[in-house]
Amino acid sequence: MRIILALSLMLFCFSCKKKSITPTGVVSKKAMVVSAREEASKIGLEILKKGGNAFDAMVATELALAVAYPFAGNLGGGGFMVYRKSDGSVGALDYREKAPLAAHRDMYLDSLGDVIPGKSIHGGTAIGVPGAISGVFETHRAFGSLPISDILDPIILLADEGVVVTKKQALRLEKYREIILRETGEQTHFYNQCIEGDTLRYPALAETLKVISKEGAKGFYDGVIADKLVSFIQNRNGIITKEDLLNYKAAWRQPVVFKYKDLNVISMSPPSSGGVTLYQIFKMMEPYDIADYGHNSPEYVQLFTEAARRAYADRNYFLGDPDFVDIPLDVLLSQSYVKDRMQDFNFDKATKSEDISHGEIQIIESEETTHYSIVDSEGNAVSVTTTLNGAYGSKIYCDELGFFLNNEMDDFSAKPGTPNMFGLTGAEANSIAPEKRMLSSMTPTIVEKDNKLYMVVGSPGGSTIITAVAQTILNTYEFDKSMQEAVDAPRFHHQWLPDHIVFETMGFSDELKEALKNLGYNINLDPTPILGKVDAIKILPDGRLEGGADKRGDDTAVGF
Ligand code: GLY
Repeated sequence: MRIILALSLMLFCFSCKKKSITPTGVVSKKAMVVSAREEASKIGLEILKKGGNAFDAMVATELALAVAYPFAGNLGGGGFMVYRKSDGSVGALDYREKAPLAAHRDMYLDSLGDVIPGKSIHGGTAIGVPGAISGVFETHRAFGSLPISDILDPIILLADEGVVVTKKQALRLEKYREIILRETGEQTHFYNQCIEGDTLRYPALAETLKVISKEGAKGFYDGVIADKLVSFIQNRNGIITKEDLLNYKAAWRQPVVFKYKDLNVISMSPPSSGGVTLYQIFKMMEPYDIADYGHNSPEYVQLFTEAARRAYADRNYFLGDPDFVDIPLDVLLSQSYVKDRMQDFNFDKATKSEDISHGEIQIIESEETTHYSIVDSEGNAVSVTTTLNGAYGSKIYCDELGFFLNNEMDDFSAKPGTPNMFGLTGAEANSIAPEKRMLSSMTPTIVEKDNKLYMVVGSPGGSTIITAVAQTILNTYEFDKSMQEAVDAPRFHHQWLPDHIVFETMGFSDELKEALKNLGYNINLDPTPILGKVDAIKILPDGRLEGGADKRGDDTAVGF
């Protein structure tokens, strides 16, 4: 009898190996918004309190970020939304920017076929056709419940009354001020130096939002705003026409959905590489007892690195806009293929990236984007990542309309197969074509456990987005961290090429790096203060919500 009891106890302990996790982030009972700025999170929550749903709050948070966080929040950029409704149905919206009709494959090359430095990054030629306004109106049309003017009113007020500059924002503005002045001209709104505590008002943006509130997406893509925008861009050698704006439409996509152990992960499909790459990383790691290795232990870092190395090699070769290229998703997302990819891995030594196929090809994106996560009181969840690409996008600020324009064209491969000015190489699948969407790494993700909503998560960070999201999910699920701890935990990154592991400056010991070096890993020793800036929500076992607002920024979780 005693033996049976002891065995039952052992079995019980094994099955509940996961200890209960004490939340350390903001906890709320019913609803939550986590975003890069308190003002935007609060406006999103205000809409939820007014009786709006998560989709209404998406519209509010997206546009409030355009006011409070012009670094990446936008009207002049684009993004992706993954949603899960309270009935369990899931979907994804692609409002990624597009190449203008006049764009062509070699538009950034000179007569010798070499990449013209900066042409896809600076000036009007870098701007893709913006998708953000189409994205929010399509979301609202499909699922919104409040009148659009009720949603936009607090944002217009915020733009009129202004936003108090934080310390981090002041530093960023100062860092980029000179280049904003160079790209936009000295008459710009951002001419004066801002210091912490200043209030930045955006009256022109308030006027633009009033027109959009009255006229809908048409108020942006047609009419006076469109005319002003087109002539502003064309005066800076841009090629976007009125026809480009009129043609722009956000597109509904099937998200990438897959199982990882007892989780069900729902993430963004192409033209973002996020979901496919996340799938491959997780599926390559799934056979291992990750929790037993310990958080950020040499074994864990090694396994994660090897999975990421292989997944990014595929990402960089195969992925692009699915409306233009045939992506072999059935193979890339098959278990047997992923298993094969890990056949040559062992814990004794590092694989060399040059030994992984498609070794000539690489893509990288900038590190400046923003993510927000929302859960409403009905249990609807949205996960949204949006971007201008670079910090303040192209740094071209349309003073008359009150917003920055993206430089998303740089996310295309300017010259497939050949390194660009940064020594980076892109793939044919992501070459430029009129009306094509450029490949992204944005990884807005929702996770279910036991068929219930478990986590809403995402991050900025260009190519490091995917590893930041993957590590945050693993931190919670495998390493029993609270949502806030999982978000704050130090991160590392590997993306196949360059063949090195990047560690955040804080949080990784010399012993760990030495152990990895001894196995043949290259360690990038350049100072890397942050990798990603994750904003997430976890549903606690008792149904309450815990926010994870990344300590790396001004990010804030609010709830009720
Ligand atoms: N521009 C960053 C991304 O789309 O991944």
